Formats: sequence, structure tokens, C-alpha cells
Amino acid sequence: MRALQIKGYGDIKASLAFGEIKKPVIKNNQVLVEVHSAGVNPIDYKITEGLLKSIQKLNFPAPIGFDVSGVVVEKGSDVKNLNIGDEIYSRVSSDSPGTFAEYVAIDGDLVSLKPSNVNFSEASGLPLVALTTIQSFEKANLKSGDKILIHAGSGGIGTFAIQYAKSMGAYVYTTTSTKNVAWVSELGADRVIDYKKENYLDVVNEIDVVYDTLGGNYTHDAFEVIKNGGKVISIAGEIDNETAKELNLNSIIRFLLALKRRKITKQIKKKSAYYKFLLMEPSGSQLTNIKTLVESQLIKPVLDKEFSFSKSIEALLYQKSGRAKGKVIIKVK
Ligand SMILES: NC(=O)c1ccc[n+]([C@@H]2O[C@H](COP(=O)([O-])OP(=O)(O)OC[C@H]3O[C@@H](n4cnc5c(N)ncnc54)[C@H](OP(=O)(O)O)[C@@H]3O)[C@@H](O)[C@H]2O)c1
Repeated sequence: MRALQIKGYGDIKASLAFGEIKKPVIKNNQVLVEVHSAGVNPIDYKITEGLLKSIQKLNFPAPIGFDVSGVVVEKGSDVKNLNIGDEIYSRVSSDSPGTFAEYVAIDGDLVSLKPSNVNFSEASGLPLVALTTIQSFEKANLKSGDKILIHAGSGGIGTFAIQYAKSMGAYVYTTTSTKNVAWVSELGADRVIDYKKENYLDVVNEIDVVYDTLGGNYTHDAFEVIKNGGKVISIAGEIDNETAKELNLNSIIRFLLALKRRKITKQIKKKSAYYKFLLMEPSGSQLTNIKTLVESQLIKPVLDKEFSFSKSIEALLYQKSGRAKGKVIIKVK
């Protein structure tokens, strides 16, 4: 079968190439999925560039891609929740990526039937952003009436998070640039802040939760806008000690991370705040909950660009531009 592979760490164009490889052989707890569409995420280019090698080292050539939608063509004897011919979507395990390929083997418990009212490409853009957001909002204990700031409302995460927070009854502030203000408002955000014209720090204050999708100073400034006892959930900022332990990072790395985090540690104390760096976990059952939300039209997938399989490298370069308006998709079949 044809698959995109990482040949070595480095620049996207130089490190990625297509290869003819053997179709995966499934284990008893897995299904073989014929890939129709694969969603692209920032993690795909970050892994290729070697930015995550302190967390997970690759053996080359390495498979690439985590989000997928397609059809079950084989199933292992232990898989009870799926049948051959099912149209599914999944965020595959972090240990076995490979959705930028014609076939992928996936653990049955990480797979859900796809929402019936969206096509394969729309479904393939949902798993990673949806699971990250659901798990982040759970950690924040977000509830109806809470005020939340969602940074980068026009990104893959932001477009899902705005709709999900509104479905929960939260008041949503979000940031984006001028060209995206109108359509981001249509996603339901209560207050869209055009960062080219306004400083969000002048608009947002005393809020319950910040969903930090940008990291850097945005993480530090989150503590300026939360109320006392508020929560900052970051998916792009400093790694907290609990998450570092979950990642099995050694004590030297954990010490260095604690040094890097010193400013945040002071800010947490000053505001009696909760801070968590959330690393998403794949889950088939949570994807089934998302299926219900999509079928009831509380959430609509937002696609930016679709690339043909042969243009996968261009898809990753586009994702890396940081200007995607919703999801970037590779159409494999
Ligand atoms: N920890 C985890 O488990 C986890 C999971 C998923 C994602 N992530 C991380 O979360 C981050 C966001 O992911 P994503 O998929 O949403 O990325 P993305 O789709 O590439 O985000 C692109 C969007 O970001 C907006 N943006 C860029 N700079 C901005 C700024 N200063 N203020 C407001 N908006 C800005 C852009 O809008 P404009 O063009 O208008 O600026 C664009 O629409 C990435 O770093 C990713 O690696 C982490």
C-alpha cells in the first residue's frame, strides 16, 4: 500500500516521502480501516521536525498521521463494537500513528462510528481537536454560565471549542484576526476580539477559564484575566509536574521544566488558580458522544482546505503556516 513516511527528523519537505509498504496486519483487538480521509494537525509537522523527540523518539522510516475516517475492512476476533463495512472515525494511538496511508490498523476501543450527517473528510477533521477540547473542559469543570476565553478561535481547536463551549451554555470570548472575525462570530462566540485592532487584555477580565492554545506569553497573561480561583488549561504552554510524571519524563527533565515554569508557579499562587497542561488521550467512547453532538447539529465541522493524497506534504506545509481557518484534510480515497 502507499503511505507517507518520515525518513528522518528535519524540514518537512526533506523529511517526508511516499513509500510502498506492506498493509498492516491486525491484532485480535484491532480493526483494519481503509482510509478515506485523514485530518492534519500541528503535531504531525512538530513530530517530523523533531520538536517532540524528548517525549517520544521515532524509528525511521516512521508512519505519520493520527486522525482518520474510513471503512472497516477487517476485524480482530476480540472486537465486538464494530462490523466490516462500518463507516468510522478515530484518533489512533500515539504509539501507532499512520493515517496518511491507504490502510491503518486501529485498536477497536479507539474507534467510533462516524457522525452519519457528515462526509468522510468532515469526520476526519474532528477526532483530535474534539477529544483535546472535551478533556480540557472536563479538567476545567466548565459549566453553564461560566465565562471562557478561547484563544485562536479560527484554528482547528478554536472552531470546535467555540461550538462545544456554547453547547454547554458558557459565555465565550475568542481572539482572531480581522479577516476571520465575521465567520468566527457565526460559530456562536459571544465576543470576538480582533487582535489586530484590540488588545484582549483590555476586554477580558475576571473570567472562569482560559483555554490557552497559543502558549508563550499567552499562558502568562491568562493569569491576568482569570478571576481568583480561576482555571488555565493550556495545550501549547508549559508542562506541569503532574503531566510530566504521566509522560514518564525523568527527574532531570522535570527539574528543568519546573525552572521554566517558575513564573507560572508564582502566578498560580497569587491567584489561587488551577493550571494544567493537557495532553489529549484517544478514546472511542468520547468520539461516540461527539457523534451525537454533530448529528444533533450542535457542532458543525469547519474545513479549510482539502488536499489530494499526493499533495500531503503541501497539506503539512499549509498547516505549519499557522493561518488555517478550521481543519486541513488529506483526501486519501
Ligand atoms: N496538548 C495537546 O494534546 C494538543 C492537542 C491539539 C493541539 N495542540 C496544540 O494546540 C495548538 C493549536 O492547534 P490548532 O490545531 O488549533 O492550530 P491551527 O489550526 O494551526 O491554528 C491556526 C489558527 O491560529 C490562529 N492564530 C495564530 N496566532 C494567533 C494569535 N496570536 N491570536 C489569535 N489567533 C491566532 C490563526 O488565525 P489568524 O490567521 O487570524 O491569526 C489560525 O486560524 C497547536 O500548538 C497544537 O500543537 C495540543
